Amino acid sequence: MKILKFSTYEEMSSAAADIFAKQINIKNDSVLGLATGSTPIGMYQKLAEMNKSGMIDFSKIKTVNLDEYYPISPENNQSYRYFMNDNLFNHINIDKDNTYVPNGSAEDADEECRKYEELIKKLGGIDLQVLGIGHNGHIGFNEPEESLYLYTHKTGLTESTMAANARFFSEDEVMPNAALTMGMGTIFNAKKIILLVSGKSKREVFKQLVTDRISTSCPATLLKLHPNVTVLCDSEACGE
Ligand code: GLP
Repeated sequence: MKILKFSTYEEMSSAAADIFAKQINIKNDSVLGLATGSTPIGMYQKLAEMNKSGMIDFSKIKTVNLDEYYPISPENNQSYRYFMNDNLFNHINIDKDNTYVPNGSAEDADEECRKYEELIKKLGGIDLQVLGIGHNGHIGFNEPEESLYLYTHKTGLTESTMAANARFFSEDEVMPNAALTMGMGTIFNAKKIILLVSGKSKREVFKQLVTDRISTSCPATLLKLHPNVTVLCDSEACGE
């Protein structure tokens, strides 16, 4: 696991966008694995700017997202589908039919997960995956547990994740307490992974990630086993 430290969130986001731009320019029909949360927003803004200035072309790019709340309608402005349209897809020249997010309104969640896993395989696997990290070390919605799922599955959300993500929901909105998420195996099949860690509130989990042994009680530590992972962090997250 390679660790790159940046002074500011801005610099970290630019470096992450450069890694994506390089991938897109090497392979213009890449399959990009995308994430939600506040951390990748800066990178998405940079990618939109690069697209506007003609530095990168998304017309043949395909994307698969890590996770989605369940149940939730894709039109709901709290859904991850809405988030992706709003923060990236509406601002770049991507064909929305080539963008995939697990369907939070599927009647049969298990069937949706099975289909999602098949879809990723059919696309030829993920070339580059971006990840954020939860305060409890979760990746996607793979929450700390005694054992973890390999592939895309439905999962309950822990209280700490519900509390951390509640900031996006207004008082009269009911926050789903479950989600559909890629499993650790799905994520591990990505050829390259970048993990973004930003802000003081992530300092403790960053320390855990770097110093702790591999354990399902901090799913992010499993990334140490992947042959091509780069962690990009800002100084607020990694301290000295
Ligand atoms: C959610 C997402 C994760 C994300 C995490 C951190 O739980 N499912 O994929 O990494 O939030 O979010 P943030 O970047 O807002 O701290």
